[in-house]
Amino acid sequence: MCGIVGYIGKRRVVPIIIEGLKRLEYRGYDSAGIVYMQDGKLEKHRCEGKLVNLEELMDDIETASRAGLGHTRWATHGAPSEANAHPHSDCTGEIVIVHNGIIENYHSLREELQSKGHHFSSETDTEVLAHLIEEMLDGDIAKAVRQAVSHVEGSYALGVMWTGEPDRLIAVRNQSPLVLGVKEGGGSFMASDIPALLPYTKDVIFLDDQEMAVLKKDSLSVCRVDNGEKVEKEIETIDWNAGMAEKAGYKHFMLKEIFEQPQAILNTVRGRFDAETGKISLPEVLLSDEELAGIKRISLVACGTSWHAALVAKYWLEKWAAIPTEVDIASEFRYRRLLLDEHTLVVPISQSGETADTLAGMRLAKSLKARIIAICNVVGSTVTREADGTIYTHAGPEIGVASTKAFTSQLVALFLLTMKIAQAKKMISGEESAALCNVLIDLPEILEKEIPRIQEEMDVISEEFVRCRDFLYLGRGANFPIALEGALKLKEISYIHAEGYAAGELKHGPIALIDKDMPVLALVPKDPVYKKVISNVEEVKARHGRIILVGTEGDEDLRRISDHVIYLPEIHEDLNPILYTIPLQLLAYKIANLRGCDVDQPRNLAKSVTVE
Ligand code: AGP
Repeated sequence: MCGIVGYIGKRRVVPIIIEGLKRLEYRGYDSAGIVYMQDGKLEKHRCEGKLVNLEELMDDIETASRAGLGHTRWATHGAPSEANAHPHSDCTGEIVIVHNGIIENYHSLREELQSKGHHFSSETDTEVLAHLIEEMLDGDIAKAVRQAVSHVEGSYALGVMWTGEPDRLIAVRNQSPLVLGVKEGGGSFMASDIPALLPYTKDVIFLDDQEMAVLKKDSLSVCRVDNGEKVEKEIETIDWNAGMAEKAGYKHFMLKEIFEQPQAILNTVRGRFDAETGKISLPEVLLSDEELAGIKRISLVACGTSWHAALVAKYWLEKWAAIPTEVDIASEFRYRRLLLDEHTLVVPISQSGETADTLAGMRLAKSLKARIIAICNVVGSTVTREADGTIYTHAGPEIGVASTKAFTSQLVALFLLTMKIAQAKKMISGEESAALCNVLIDLPEILEKEIPRIQEEMDVISEEFVRCRDFLYLGRGANFPIALEGALKLKEISYIHAEGYAAGELKHGPIALIDKDMPVLALVPKDPVYKKVISNVEEVKARHGRIILVGTEGDEDLRRISDHVIYLPEIHEDLNPILYTIPLQLLAYKIANLRGCDVDQPRNLAKSVTVE
């Protein structure tokens, strides 16, 4: 999932492109490139590897150009290399493009174009588009682009420039996100995501599928790709600022975002429940209490960490709202026979709001008349614009590829949704939900105190486990998904093979992995399944596993059966998943940091997975 940036205006373009790419590097970082108009020609520079390589290259190049495009890549077709890096050109070199997405029919198009004499210089699917535009070009680049993409199957966010019309950039969107930035007298911007625009403007236009924009230094117009018809677009103002997308003195965005969780949780719960009456107000749900009470089934759909949040919510929704709840990995959900109808509430959960599988699953559910209430962190993202309603997590921009504050905020939003539905079904009294939601209100203060303390403890523990090759995480009930999340965090940033298991599953196979070298972390809060987890830990101890326990303050018995114990304050058992996630985030961060891994941009990953 690449990041693209474009600018045309009165300011020097190179610094704007480089700064924009820096703020999008979490989307892909295996190669990068830039192109700008210089004396009627297109100057193109590309590098393999991190963006810093391109920055160094550009340090020695002087240009006053005022129009250009940039790209940071996450390879899908053609290995990371200078030749496969974007921008790509046509045979003449007068047309250049940057692209985020996948051209599914690129092979047949390439063969057809080669038979017409086009020469290709890369292995990418993208280059096909440059030659296709060249084929269609007849003095009007916007028209040629529209004709070219009409031959394309797949997803694309495109930026196009042509020496024949140096006063414009062309932007086109189909399935991959693209947002435009407007600034009175300040030029026109395009980018794959908001953070790239924030240093220059908060006024944005979200392109929809099959829309194209022509960007000029003092104007911007949008039209439909199929017929060129003008489209009036609303300018939206983003309530984020550039600083929120910077490290604020932390070594990594991930660590900063772990420490931002108290505020993120407070922002997500604030104004959404009345501490007196316990009444939940989620106006963005757009379903009346009658309609909510009429919901027969809930289907939670997500990927990765967001899927773990969905797994936790199943326990809450079935316990408090007594609604049968299914949880699906979106990439499976979209290809299985779905038994959904207007009595089903489908909840797509996505930090970015752009994950292709979750989006496709949501669209499928919508076509089956299900009601769609999304949980999302990015205002104006595609999921939010196509859902019936969206409960926003107010975690602020999450830049670290490993999701942290968005996850705990998703849990808060899902808990509020659970309480809302339980109240609509008269399954819970105002007092009961007030008691529970007041724990949510108290959590930020608890985390403010606990996060620095746990960080120190993890400094010690991580030293001992930094060289381990495998790691097991165990949990029961709503903490089982937290074990999965802990394992995912360690996997994605430290590259250690880690697995999360329902503790009761251990003796059905994974216990075979246990020996004196196997670290096992178990979540053992004082809750109804406490004794069961303790028995599972005893089974690990009997096989000399190296045991880390996370449990309730004052539970001294844990020391007897473990090598390390992280104690956490006692809160309502149902909200433990939020609290018990923190030590696992910090353990993964510390180990990855000690191993010298690039915590914010782990290998082979990208922040928002916009292709299938
Ligand atoms: C989590 O740390 C990962 N970045 C990844 O698993 C992520 O949760 C998944 O790609 C879903 O992303 P979304 O929430 O933006 O849809």
